[in-house]
Amino acid sequence: MTSNDIAVSVQNLTKTYGAFAALKGITFDIERGETFALLGPNGAGKSTTIEILEGYRDRSGGEVRVLGVDPQHGGLPWKAKLGIVLQSSGESGNVTVREQLTQFAGMYPNSRDVNEVIAAIGLEEKANTRIKNLSGGQQRRVDVGLGVIGRPELLFLDEPTTGFDPEARRQFWELIRSLKREGTTILLTTHYLDEAAQLSDRAAVVAGGKLVDIGPVGSLGSAEARVPLVRWRESGIVREQRATDPGAVVAGLVARLGEPVELEVVRPSLEDIYLELVTAENAEAEARVAANTTATDGAVIAGTNPAAGASPTTTSFTTTKENERA
Ligand SMILES: Nc1ncnc2c1ncn2[C@@H]1O[C@H](COP(=O)(O)OP(=O)(O)OP(=O)(O)O)[C@@H](O)[C@H]1O
Ligand SMILES: [Mg+2]
Repeated sequence: MTSNDIAVSVQNLTKTYGAFAALKGITFDIERGETFALLGPNGAGKSTTIEILEGYRDRSGGEVRVLGVDPQHGGLPWKAKLGIVLQSSGESGNVTVREQLTQFAGMYPNSRDVNEVIAAIGLEEKANTRIKNLSGGQQRRVDVGLGVIGRPELLFLDEPTTGFDPEARRQFWELIRSLKREGTTILLTTHYLDEAAQLSDRAAVVAGGKLVDIGPVGSLGSAEARVPLVRWRESGIVREQRATDPGAVVAGLVARLGEPVELEVVRPSLEDIYLELVTAENAEAEARVAANTTATDGAVIAGTNPAAGASPTTTSFTTTKENERA
């Protein structure tokens, strides 16, 4: 693979806020045309990572290239290739949906048709409504529309579907699939793991500022965590058997019982695997803290003392860029 095939390259990325380490050395690549999901609990460092890639935040250490450019030095032509949906932009303007999209479309050299975008985000009936009068989920759809209007090469979506009703979420999935067919590279964060499983080619799980696992969605987690479960009812009792060869187990059941009652073969969902990964990481982190506490004989552990500037609420912002999310 050449460097031209790589849309995003992140090497040993770190970010500290005062004494607090939000990112502790994260490494991953995203290929051109790939849909890549960044998963992890609240506070894991997903938005911090994404905002560094977008050029909204400066990094503390490591190397980052986005479409071949260091985001800290990305000029206008570079920005025009990006589509950005921040976690909380909350469009609340006095202009209508159509006016806002038309204005944004005018800023890009090869923008999409405004009516097409309005249809893709399901706001035809609200096209002439002022954004401030839309519901929360409808405003979020406008955010997504503004993210895609410039026909971006690389689209960043930070929890894009928060507040969407189920139908809007399915419609959004269709939009993402059509962008993917056009070759758009997509970096997505979401807490809906069914969404990540549906849309992404690969995913990375981040917890506590570290990468816990990375790979194709179907191969995340340990091999044991992915073993399917065969479930059936026999003599009135629900029975379960974990098996790497569920077909053979089912064949055995059929031979023994005829058609098994309430037969199911359940594969662990991405959510099951994610929870196992994150729970294991939490347990390790707690063990490290306990070991550290013993080793330092009760002394305050670096990075956990709010008085030392570790608390997000007490850390002051240093640059204008970083104020944007304050
Ligand atoms: N400006 C800031 N100053 C200090 N700490 C910050 C700042 N921004 C983020 N943090 C801290 O960095 C950590 C990572 O935050 P981040 O927003 O990247 O998490 P996230 O993975 O996006 O979480 P969520 O799922 O809740 O959106 C959190 O502990 C957060 O409190
Ligand atoms: Mg976030």
